Amino acid sequence: MIGKKKLLILHGPNLNLLGKREKEIYGIYTLEDLDAMIRREAEKLGITVDCHQSNHEGTLIDLIHGAEGKYEGIIFNPGAFTHYSIALRDALAAVSVPAVEVHLSNIYAREELRRRSVIAPVARGQISGLGPRSYLLALYALASEDSSFCPPGGGGYGFERAGARSPELNVRGIRGAIDAASNDEGEILAATAELLRQIVTDNAVAKENVAAVIFSLTPDLNAAFPAKAARRMGWTDVPLFCSVEIGVTGALPRCIRVLMLVNTSMKPREIKHVYLKGAAVLREDLEAAAADPSGV
Ligand code: DQA
Repeated sequence: MIGKKKLLILHGPNLNLLGKREKEIYGIYTLEDLDAMIRREAEKLGITVDCHQSNHEGTLIDLIHGAEGKYEGIIFNPGAFTHYSIALRDALAAVSVPAVEVHLSNIYAREELRRRSVIAPVARGQISGLGPRSYLLALYALASEDSSFCPPGGGGYGFERAGARSPELNVRGIRGAIDAASNDEGEILAATAELLRQIVTDNAVAKENVAAVIFSLTPDLNAAFPAKAARRMGWTDVPLFCSVEIGVTGALPRCIRVLMLVNTSMKPREIKHVYLKGAAVLREDLEAAAADPSGV
């Protein structure tokens, strides 16, 4: 690992009561005990951790926003927010920092209301039901995110993710397009950012799995390079390329097209290409395919 990796540990509502609260479910450890365990293990792995607990959704959202550029990963136990906070899900989707969702209890073995996580689709993964070890396993997972790290005891744990450095590189293209309201830098960058975010959210793309992004603009858009929007999102180490689309008569005006090359285990049929606003007309067939997944 190059440099010291920094992770944010986020505990959501009521986790300040660990050790007192429903001990038969959450165990006897206090939050301080849990943070001490995480810090000890992180130290062994050469990782710095910052631990925070909050009972407030807004505070958790602010901490997630602040993680961009500061942390390489988030270990997040959203508590009861897991089951309904779209605001927290959106916050995680808005940053490029990978997050692992953790739970002390096995949320799938409990009441029906806990069996759904709105956070999981935007998380790198989820670990549920292993008590404090849920956090430690998340720590190992994030430690191995971009290195050849193996957890203590040696290899063979299967922590090696099929990532950019894996021999099982599997690159696929995700297409998208959107039209800008006018040939104005602000409009071009806002439209590009909206398109990239939607592609990332719909396909659960993590920044480190993006091999490259190719943009093209119709000739009537020249007030800004769309790549600037990607740089502003923190995609500083992703190769980006901008070009001019051929000026076909009658083509959709002010159109920004994107081809995102992503390392993914998704099958071609699972990929969600994204056509927004006026550009939706370019691929009306996608809507029809989504309505009829059998493909007939
Ligand atoms: C929890 C599970 C949630 O359903 C619950 O609301 C919590 C804790 C867990 O760690 O098991 O507060 O996230």
